[in-house]
Amino acid sequence: MCVTYLPLRRFVIPLTLVLLIWVSHSLSAQQSSPAIAPAPQTETTETDSQRPQEKARRAYLGRVVAAPMSHLGAGWLIRPTRQQEERPDESLSQLGIKPGMTTCDMGCGNGFWTLMMAKVVGEQGRVLAVDIQPEMLQKLRLRAVREEIKNVQPILGTVDDPKLPVEQVDLCLMVDVYHEFSHPESMLWSIRRSLKPNGVIALLEYREEDPRVPIKPKHKMSKQQIMKEYEKNGFKLVREYNDLPWQHLMFFARDDSPLPAIKPEPFMVQR
Ligand SMILES: C[S@@+](CC[C@H](N)C(=O)[O-])C[C@H]1O[C@@H](n2cnc3c(N)ncnc32)[C@H](O)[C@@H]1O
Repeated sequence: MCVTYLPLRRFVIPLTLVLLIWVSHSLSAQQSSPAIAPAPQTETTETDSQRPQEKARRAYLGRVVAAPMSHLGAGWLIRPTRQQEERPDESLSQLGIKPGMTTCDMGCGNGFWTLMMAKVVGEQGRVLAVDIQPEMLQKLRLRAVREEIKNVQPILGTVDDPKLPVEQVDLCLMVDVYHEFSHPESMLWSIRRSLKPNGVIALLEYREEDPRVPIKPKHKMSKQQIMKEYEKNGFKLVREYNDLPWQHLMFFARDDSPLPAIKPEPFMVQR
């Protein structure tokens, strides 16, 4: 027994060691070999782990953040004079909404814009109507039922997450809401991720530069401030419409979108 065992130990152990060294050498040579394709490192879609960790803000980049408008004041959003004061029909025709599109009405309130958009996208399209106040969404639901509109999907968002699907939105409309975001970076990050490559944000904000616009200062924004905040959050200006009575209408795409960037026209008060 001992006679056969001893030579085995003498040869098998050194042989195993030699084998192990050879295998580890050839493995490390393979890893650095240019013939082996590296694993893909970048993903085009942002993952949840990249979501900004943001606390509620009182101010953002020099602008005071406004408190959200309460659902108790929702009647003001559907006041009869809104048409004449803001000319929403004109804005709607500028949005370029087409039948079949997936659109979003961010901060939809009681649905003044949602219902108009729903009629344009038609049965094949949809409007994702997001708000943080359940009471606003309930008012929207009632108005949609009354008008027999079925292509609206109400979404109860949170202050930092609108709960939108990824890369599905053609147009995200934000009327008189962006300046109320307590978590602007988180909201813009989520909205950016929800857009298709050619998708855009259509931003309507009351003009801060214009003393004739009868809105409280905290609820107005200047073009310069808008540009500062949107460029910082991965957007570029791709279109604007400067003929509304009270509001800026600016279109932003992701900064990696194929749409070409433009410079904003300076705003001049006409006397
Ligand atoms: C002044 S209202 C405008 C409503 C509507 N866009 C319109 O023009 O008729 C602003 C709305 O935005 C909502 N809002 C504020 N912060 C929000 C957020 N982070 N996400 C979604 N909605 C928000 C408020 O609850 C409110 O209903």
